[in-house]
Amino acid sequence: MTTAPTLEDIEVQLLLEAVHRYYGYDFRNYAASSLKRRVRNFMQNEGLHTVSALQERILHDRACLDRLLLGLTVNTTSMFRDPSFYTAFREQAVPLLRTYPFIRIWHAGCSTGQEVYSMAILLQEEGIYHRCRIYATDTNEQVLQTARSGIFPLDRMQEYTQLYLKAGGKRSFSEYYTADHQNAIFRSSLKEHLVFAQHNLVTDRSFNEFNVILCRNVLIYFNHTLQQQVHQLFYNSLCKFGILGLGKQESIRFTPHETDYEEIAKGQKLYRRRN
Ligand SMILES: C[S@@+](CC[C@H](N)C(=O)[O-])C[C@H]1O[C@@H](n2cnc3c(N)ncnc32)[C@H](O)[C@@H]1O
Repeated sequence: MTTAPTLEDIEVQLLLEAVHRYYGYDFRNYAASSLKRRVRNFMQNEGLHTVSALQERILHDRACLDRLLLGLTVNTTSMFRDPSFYTAFREQAVPLLRTYPFIRIWHAGCSTGQEVYSMAILLQEEGIYHRCRIYATDTNEQVLQTARSGIFPLDRMQEYTQLYLKAGGKRSFSEYYTADHQNAIFRSSLKEHLVFAQHNLVTDRSFNEFNVILCRNVLIYFNHTLQQQVHQLFYNSLCKFGILGLGKQESIRFTPHETDYEEIAKGQKLYRRRN
């Protein structure tokens, strides 16, 4: 049984329609309940009482739209997030990648870049980074600016060190950055094969053929229709026997490509395209 939409539901739909038509950002197929929660939080921060009032402000104030874009997407990330994923990548994916002369990797929805630098560290330790090019994309230009800088808060380094060690890190984590006041500035050699660019998974197309696609903790914010669409994009963008890595709570089950992949590390959301 479906319940009738509330006035707020209708206003949110109209807001998303307006944002799409006027600015081209398409949030219409994001998971409804978490999106509504974020719209409410945003309204509170802006001191607005109705979604319609928010719509009016958004349409007449570009700066407000930019704030909303940040407010609608969750940008939480970490270095070596879910360390067992990195261990599995090191043990199962790296041996396969060693057989390639050149390795193209796409981090889709990379946020402020912590997971991209983590992968660069892992690939450097495995001696194959010089053969890699990592394309790291996000829809949000503001988070990409932090990602490009390779500068992260110093006070998170203790936590990151623990995760690095759990992920099978082979050196001392502090070798990878220098400390400066409140910041940890990551080694420039890690940036050598990174390309950061804006890309929207909903509206933009594939831009290359990849050996590895990592898209972790992004699809969880999309509804089923949009998840299927993005899985199609990934399938079309992966080369034969290419590797797909998803987030802990994400899966290829119930997608049109469920049978086109095999799991290469049990429970780690690491898959390989069959052909
Ligand atoms: C929770 S973060 C995940 C960051 C990182 N992948 C990780 O797992 O730690 C989700 C990211 O997805 C991005 N995102 C949301 N919608 C997107 C879209 N349509 N296209 C590309 N990126 C998107 C957000 O801007 C945000 O940076």
